[in-house]
Amino acid sequence: MTTLGTPLSPSATKVMLLGSGELGKEVLIALQRLGVETIAVDRYENAPGQQVAHHARTITMSDPAQLKALIEAERPHLVVPEIEAIATPMLQELEAAGVVRVIPTARAARLTMDREGIRRLAAESLGLPTSPYQFCDSLDELQAAIDGGIGYPCIVKPVMSSSGKGQSKIDGPADVQKAWDYAMSGGRVGPGRIIVEGFIDFDYEITQLTVRALGADGQIETHFCDPIGHVQVSGDYVESWQPHPMTPAALAESRRIAQAVTDDLGGQGLYGVELFVKGDLVWFSEVSPRPHDTGMVTMITQWQNEFELHARAILGLPVSTALKSPGASAVIYGGVDATGIAFDGVDDALRVPQTELRLFGKPESFTKRRMGVALAFDADVEQARTRAKQAAALVKPRAA
Ligand SMILES: Nc1ncnc2c1ncn2[C@@H]1O[C@H](COP(=O)(O)OP(=O)(O)O)[C@@H](O)[C@H]1O
Ligand SMILES: [Mg+2]
Repeated sequence: MTTLGTPLSPSATKVMLLGSGELGKEVLIALQRLGVETIAVDRYENAPGQQVAHHARTITMSDPAQLKALIEAERPHLVVPEIEAIATPMLQELEAAGVVRVIPTARAARLTMDREGIRRLAAESLGLPTSPYQFCDSLDELQAAIDGGIGYPCIVKPVMSSSGKGQSKIDGPADVQKAWDYAMSGGRVGPGRIIVEGFIDFDYEITQLTVRALGADGQIETHFCDPIGHVQVSGDYVESWQPHPMTPAALAESRRIAQAVTDDLGGQGLYGVELFVKGDLVWFSEVSPRPHDTGMVTMITQWQNEFELHARAILGLPVSTALKSPGASAVIYGGVDATGIAFDGVDDALRVPQTELRLFGKPESFTKRRMGVALAFDADVEQARTRAKQAAALVKPRAA
């Protein structure tokens, strides 16, 4: 049985989000609706999620001492990582000491913050199909890995990075140095290790949202959302839609892979499993132990969106992954480097039939920073894509 309390009272059920961007903001809203007391943590003030939580805290989450001090001071029932750049060994320590429960588990947060941890688990421990890969610590090692079997084309990524940062494709020998230098500039913790992956010439890629939630008997049940198709530009998501049509064999294989990875990572909550598909062949790419950016489309396509699913699952509540309508999402970029920007054309955008907008409220805009998303539904997923893109294009961010 799950019992929830009253926020700001001694009975409160307290949840701390580590990372309070646009995804954390929606998880916080879902928790607020259930009367959960929320603490939104980020590295800067007025982060999107901090604007909708009971409490806002600003710390360096990659600093173990700061993270420990905050968790011990606030004593939340659950700690929910929303980003990768967190001192996850400290979360493991606190979880092991029984101080706090980490969502989905501290081990899952630790393994997935580093491409090496999750890739070795998926490919070497679980035997799942992935691109061929090697880890390298120098330009010489990178060249040797390519010559030794990875071949061209291939992709280089810092092991600690996200949203395509430091990531590039190598088409031939002339690109190797450039890719190495770019990776060294784009890693999260400074120069370091990279993964080089053979390029998979996939037909399409999907996110398989997978929820681990408690059933009526108190046992974990795995639920799958409809597959989400998406387009990435330079490793960053620009458009997504649901459902993406798949052959029965490719869908079954996707779910087998998603089940294997999430069974191993364990805990309760929603995972975003990224897969490449060619015909009936499926490759595991990576997994987020939390809502996925491409899953923002579920805010218009599912009865319970991915954020509500996450909130319910972590609280031990039942979930439904049923689709409400096919739909699509399109990202709205900042387009300018400025603080406190204005958005023109919001009315025009919302005049596109069957659309919605989310403006995240980020205090600072960068040209390539995601500042909002347009959503559209339609029985025809292609029509929904057109409408989402139309609406996104009508929103015009500018310096105020
Ligand atoms: N081995 C690969 N072959 C083909 N495309 C790839 C490969 N690895 C990454 N990509 C493309 O780059 C995107 C981002 O890569 P990903 O590993 O998911 O990095 P991030 O952690 O930054 O999201 C993928 O969604 C896919 O479009
Ligand atoms: Mg990815």
